[in-house]
Amino acid sequence: MSKLWTWVNERMGVNEVIENHLTKYYAPKNFNFFYFFGSLAMLVLVNQILTGIWLTMSYEPSAAGAFASIEYIMRDVEYGWLLRYLHSTGASAFFAVVYLHMLRGIMYGSYQKPRELVWLFGMLIYLALMAEAFMGYLLPWGQMSYWGAQVIISLFGAIPFIGPDLAQWVRGDYLISGITLNRFFALHVIALPIVLLGLVVLHLIALHEVGSNNPLGVDIKKVKDETGKPLDGIPFHPYYTVKDIVGVVVFLFVFCTIVFFFPEMGGFFLEHPNFEVANQLKTPDHIAPVWYFTPFYAILRAVPAIGGSAFPGVMAMGASIAMLFVLPWLDRSPVRSIRYKGWMSKLWLAIFCVVFVILGVLGAIPGNETRTLIARICTVLYFAFFILMPFYTSMEKTKAVPERIPG
Ligand code: HEM
Repeated sequence: MSKLWTWVNERMGVNEVIENHLTKYYAPKNFNFFYFFGSLAMLVLVNQILTGIWLTMSYEPSAAGAFASIEYIMRDVEYGWLLRYLHSTGASAFFAVVYLHMLRGIMYGSYQKPRELVWLFGMLIYLALMAEAFMGYLLPWGQMSYWGAQVIISLFGAIPFIGPDLAQWVRGDYLISGITLNRFFALHVIALPIVLLGLVVLHLIALHEVGSNNPLGVDIKKVKDETGKPLDGIPFHPYYTVKDIVGVVVFLFVFCTIVFFFPEMGGFFLEHPNFEVANQLKTPDHIAPVWYFTPFYAILRAVPAIGGSAFPGVMAMGASIAMLFVLPWLDRSPVRSIRYKGWMSKLWLAIFCVVFVILGVLGAIPGNETRTLIARICTVLYFAFFILMPFYTSMEKTKAVPERIPG
């Protein structure tokens, strides 16, 4: 075996890759709970790909057969129910994990120089993930699959001049049909997973070039020993590989509890109307996207239409995501971590988190006058967090960041 290893290494340098990214990759010694979510996102990605491959073996991508093939998977394919629930729960877990991963980045200023590219690749991953989840949701060909896609694709139609043609181009038909289902299937099972995997690789290459941030935002590369090893760094392997196993075990415990006992999660993970086959002649009473899209859906609904056109809402929804892309250039603070920022940054971050959750709730339930008003206030606060950021981060008094990680 050792001869084989040497043979491979002389030709491929696997040892070097292992050293650069694991055994001699020095990560700050103070990673906390929030640093579990990067490895967990990778775990969920692997789960989605593996269960997805097996689901594809029994799924039929046609308007006539899709719904029945899901029923077949659930009832007749051996362990088909498990594959499906692992995949559907995995989709929600993916967003839960990625939202916490992003929150960590925002709290500790991990998007700041020199990690802007890490953040940008992360945001591209997030976009690809949204597209992946949206297209996957059409595949069971249930009522909510059909009407959810109908609502979102018709939004393209609100874009001036090119809108209606664009919506038709996306659908491949005048209505959502088997043609739309086929193209969404192709994109969901092959095109977007490749994009996602490629982006994750780029995300990690960019991260390992500059090194990880940490809860204090201290730059560990500033203080090194005579061999060039950061004094506040520890090798990723074995220290963090072992620590990450703890995160994986706890995560799997929660994940399996949901898969085995609450796979529909009261209609939040698998919506009730989706247990009925798609019917072009019957609109569900209330159309709402799955929970992970609802904050943006609430922003879309909160912005009033002009002349019957939903374009302003579509713009606001697009802008709410675009804001996250430019975050590294909005934050002018001399310090990274929220721990050393001033009270204004702390207050705005708290407001942002609260309004994001409120918008998420509002996007999931039917609207009325009061709820629309609350959604409008929350939308204004959501944007204010970003737009005012250059001012409050440069004006406020920050605390001094220590040279070394204490303890
Ligand atoms: C498939 C989805 C993703 C995977 C598999 C992934 C994976 C990882 C991993 C393994 C790390 C290093 C470990 C850690 O710091 O937790 C990391 C770091 C990071 N990720 Fe992601 N990530 C994903 C999505 C995102 C998204 C959507 C964003 C933000 C828009 C993001 C932003 C970051 C940042 C800023 C860091 C550096 C954090 C620090 O050093 O403090 N990632 N990611």
